[in-house]
Amino acid sequence: MNARGFQDLVFMNGLFFDRIMPNIGNLHLDFGCGDGKGSLVQAKFCKNSFVIGYDSDLEKIQLANKEQKVSSLTNVSFQDSLREFIFGYSDENSECQYANIFDSATANFVFHENPLIIKEIHPYLKRDGKIIVLDYNLKGISKREFYKKFCLDNERKIMKLEGFDECYKKHTKFDITDCIGFGNSARFNTINTALSEKYFLWVGQKN
Ligand SMILES: C[S@@+](CC[C@H](N)C(=O)[O-])C[C@H]1O[C@@H](n2cnc3c(N)ncnc32)[C@H](O)[C@@H]1O
Repeated sequence: MNARGFQDLVFMNGLFFDRIMPNIGNLHLDFGCGDGKGSLVQAKFCKNSFVIGYDSDLEKIQLANKEQKVSSLTNVSFQDSLREFIFGYSDENSECQYANIFDSATANFVFHENPLIIKEIHPYLKRDGKIIVLDYNLKGISKREFYKKFCLDNERKIMKLEGFDECYKKHTKFDITDCIGFGNSARFNTINTALSEKYFLWVGQKN
């Protein structure tokens, strides 16, 4: 999924305004923000929120910073280390249980790469903080069906880059049931779900 894909998706079926935007709080984390275009959409429409776009890939953060300059939005900042941003140091082994500073977090098309991100996000959220996961809901479909459905411009590029079989394996591994399972085991309560032919949206609340 690229950011154009994300924007098309969220605007086409009202997902962003009806299901995502109402759950975005004052301090919002866009976890795995990639090139930042999705974070910028969030910042643009949630004027009362401050959005932190975070990605562990420094090159993506550099791209995101460029996008931000073009957008001239001031309620968004991009980071390649959350620990460093919050604590001022990046020691991977240090406890981060007191980092619960975010009111909400989105993870758009990150779950299928690594479902453990839900557990990773948990300590960064305040109690009652919301997590919004948007991803593919293509588990169990045939290769033929996958080829038909996985067809946005950028997805075609991924297919070319990774090869069809690898791409099929990666994007059909999980569905919303798996997401709810990972969410529950990370101590989130499910408060909202939405499904389309191709995507799922899961909203959890930290308990
Ligand atoms: C498929 S891209 C989605 C990017 C963006 N959210 C979007 O919708 O266009 C997944 C991104 O998640 C990032 N990512 C994966 N695991 C991560 C982790 N544990 N911490 C931070 N970023 C992560 C990757 O670097 C990649 O940029």
